[in-house]
Amino acid sequence: MRLLVCGGAGFIGSNFIRYYLSRHPEDFVVNFDKLTYAGNLENLKDVEGNPNYIFVRGDITDDKAVNDTIQKNNISHIVNFAAETHVDRSIINGADFVRTNVMGTQALLEAAKNNGGLRYHHISTDEVFGALGPNDPPFNENTSYNPRSPYSASKAAADHLTRAYFHTYNLPITISNCSNNYGPYQFPEKLHGLFITNLLEGKKVPVYGDGLQVRDWLYVDDHCEAVDLVLRQGKIGESYCIGGDCEKTNMVITRKMLELLELGEEMIETVKDRAGHDRRYAIDFSKIKNELGWSPRTSFEEGMKKTVEWYKNNREWWQKIKSGEYLEYYKKQYHER
Ligand code: NAD
Ligand code: DAU
Repeated sequence: MRLLVCGGAGFIGSNFIRYYLSRHPEDFVVNFDKLTYAGNLENLKDVEGNPNYIFVRGDITDDKAVNDTIQKNNISHIVNFAAETHVDRSIINGADFVRTNVMGTQALLEAAKNNGGLRYHHISTDEVFGALGPNDPPFNENTSYNPRSPYSASKAAADHLTRAYFHTYNLPITISNCSNNYGPYQFPEKLHGLFITNLLEGKKVPVYGDGLQVRDWLYVDDHCEAVDLVLRQGKIGESYCIGGDCEKTNMVITRKMLELLELGEEMIETVKDRAGHDRRYAIDFSKIKNELGWSPRTSFEEGMKKTVEWYKNNREWWQKIKSGEYLEYYKKQYHER
């Protein structure tokens, strides 16, 4: 395979490239990334010298750059991780979310179509399904779309476009809708990255509202394995729900971090809730389990330990990020709302 990985310099994309090159050393990977605030080539320092890997800086909304990269590198498959991904930023301003997540996806689909009908895998999210009540069954592939934030609305539009290219042009697509990931290289604006680094800096952690919102947590390597499987063995035209079988409230996650870092409850600060905050997400991953034999491998205990250790041992990585634009965003999000 000659793979174009879009958004490969971000959290999941960089973990995926590392995972993929180690499992498929015969394949060639082009990492195509705009390097927004969330893209960081330091995430891939250890694969930079691999002769089967190159980086191309580019924007997925730029048809010419996408086409040139596909043709120059004789690409056979596309996996699209590129997106604006942080819900809170989408609440501040959704314009970039529509541009990249919707128009960028359309540009990639068009390029896949015009270059001989390339295999296209789209990385989506469980947030497209909306929010669950405490006793609702988990989301599955048949759940109706009901996105509730500018972020999830833009991701939902991208999923619809991806399916439309299958039905209209027979483009060989698949989609995966995954639950919340955690692990190394997560930008320190999301729950794990932000809270662990705040605690390592001796700062309190800002828990939104009552902290009883539930997410279904999956260690990032397990997501990478699932994407690789769907790309190789998934049924064309279909979508796959991927989850961690690990529903936890934000308070439970926060307390686990405090325990691992030997800190007390005084480090918790409850702050104003997120607007339109989805109460619960959960995924039923029976389809990928039954069809492709995938299940999460990493337990909550093990994943949390590995994640906290990684942030402890990689201070330089996150200390560099937590400056400049990041400080502006932090002020706006946590002190000016
Ligand atoms: P991230 O924000 O860490 O990384 C996004 C990457 O996309 C960055 O490298 C950024 O530079 C790049 N990018 C943004 N706009 C671009 C553009 N116009 N052109 C090219 N590159 C661009 O994101 P993440 O958390 O790694 O998420 C990756 C994908 O997985 C996204 O599609 C997201 O919706 C999806 N997802 C994330 C989670 C999660 O928990 N993080 C869960 C389910 C699905
Ligand atoms: O479900 C998959 C989605 O998970 C992905 O599609 C998104 O890209 C990803 O960002 C993530 O969205 P969430 O909004 O669930 O993740 P986040 O880490 O921002 O927040 C997780 C929970 O923690 C959520 O209930 C909000 C809460 N939270 C978050 C932050 C940043 C806080 O209480 N305080 C905070 O400061």
